[in-house]
Amino acid sequence: MSQLIGFGLGLRTDHYADFRATPAPKLGVDWLEVISENYMVPGGKPLAHLDAIRRDVPMVMHGVSLSIGGADALDRGYLRDLRALADRIEPAWVSDHLCWTGVDRHNLHDLLPLPYTEAALRHVVDRVLQVQDALGRRLLLENVSSYVTWSADEMSEWQFIAELARLADCELLLDVNNVYVSATNHGFDAKVFIDAMPAERVRQIHLAGHETGDDGFLIDTHDHPVCEAVWDLYRHTIARLGPVPTMIERDDHIPPLAELVDELARARREAAAALANRAVPELAA
Ligand SMILES: [Fe+2]
Repeated sequence: MSQLIGFGLGLRTDHYADFRATPAPKLGVDWLEVISENYMVPGGKPLAHLDAIRRDVPMVMHGVSLSIGGADALDRGYLRDLRALADRIEPAWVSDHLCWTGVDRHNLHDLLPLPYTEAALRHVVDRVLQVQDALGRRLLLENVSSYVTWSADEMSEWQFIAELARLADCELLLDVNNVYVSATNHGFDAKVFIDAMPAERVRQIHLAGHETGDDGFLIDTHDHPVCEAVWDLYRHTIARLGPVPTMIERDDHIPPLAELVDELARARREAAAALANRAVPELAA
């Protein structure tokens, strides 16, 4: 697996022209994350843009349809197409979400949380091993934001994730905003979640904005800038984990690229400050 470093953005249609005109690194973007499903078709304009932009910048792939926690058999055709795309653009890694997205082949178009039980853990471990085998790569799984929990839960989400990573020998995409959203919705301490993550397995971080609903619940909308509380949690995360490739996720109300590059510059500053603060006690020791 390649050693991707630095700060990235999600590649969105609105910014194809910017990245075709100027290589992403010259715009202050070290790498790009692409939504796998947008390019899993033969030919067409999106793939042509992708190939052209890829020449100038490293990429990672991020999927939304794997349904790693689902009860349906893994979709072998999907895995073949996913691997073909990975072979085409040679991403630093391939990620999806720790969730289920439907049943009986009905896609609910939502990333639904799993029950955190021993049985679910064994089920997901077995499927991650199959996926890694099919892809010929290790998989990164991302923690989702949630609004409900299961009464059947036998462990916390963070215990489930840490055990999954260990047993399946997979890696993690830590979405700091999702931790904050779920912590607020369910009343747990976000820093306890972050502190339970196995540092050596966290390969990538997502930062994003969210909305506050009328009932006070937070909704993971990805249509706002990152809020101050999430920046605070990001500093804690970097101080705990060390430097981890980080990106800003914006999926709606996509602003001009320069605005996102500015926000990404803040991520660089926050990470540098967190690392500098972390170095002080180590030097003093
Ligand atoms: Fe995310």
